[in-house]
Amino acid sequence: MAVTYRIEEVRNEVTEMAKAAPTAQDLMRSMVKLLHDRMLKYNWVGFYMLEPGAQPPVLVLGAFEGAMTPHTRIPLNQGICGAAASSGQTVVVDDVSKDPRYLACSLETKSEIVVPVFAHGKIMGELDIDSHFPAAFTAEHQTFVQHCAMLVGKKLEAAGK
Ligand code: SME
Repeated sequence: MAVTYRIEEVRNEVTEMAKAAPTAQDLMRSMVKLLHDRMLKYNWVGFYMLEPGAQPPVLVLGAFEGAMTPHTRIPLNQGICGAAASSGQTVVVDDVSKDPRYLACSLETKSEIVVPVFAHGKIMGELDIDSHFPAAFTAEHQTFVQHCAMLVGKKLEAAGK
C-alpha cells in the first residue's frame, strides 16, 4: 500500500537523521522540515517544549514548519497541546471543529495529533502536527509520530536532559 510505504520510507530517514544529529535541537529542526516536506498531509509540524522552571508550567513554541501560529506559549490547561502535556498521552483529534479544547492555528486545519516527548520518563515537550485533511492521523500515523517523538526524547537523554 502506497501510504504505508511512504511512512516506512520516512521512518527510516528520520531514524538515520536521529543518529546523525549532533544535538536534540538540531534533530528537532531537521525533523520538522523532513516531516513537513515528505508527509503530504502534515501541513504544520512543530515542537512545543516545557519552559524549564516555569511555574505554572508553560509550553513554548520551538522548531516548526508551516505558517506562523499565534500560539507561541500555551499553558497546560489550554488547547489540545495542553491536554497532551498534562496527561502525558498522545491526543488525536479527527475533527478539530468538534473539540472545544482546540486552539486555532490556521482556519484550514481539520485534524491534529499531539505526541508527548519524554526523557528519562519525564515529559519535556511534545510534537504537534496539524492537517488540512479530516482524520489524517490513523493508527499507522500515530505509531510513526510516536516513533519520531521517541527519537527526540532519546536525544535529550543522551544530552543529559
Ligand atoms: N491547535 C493547538 C495549538 C497549536 S497550533 O495548532 C500550532 C492546540 O489546540 O493546542
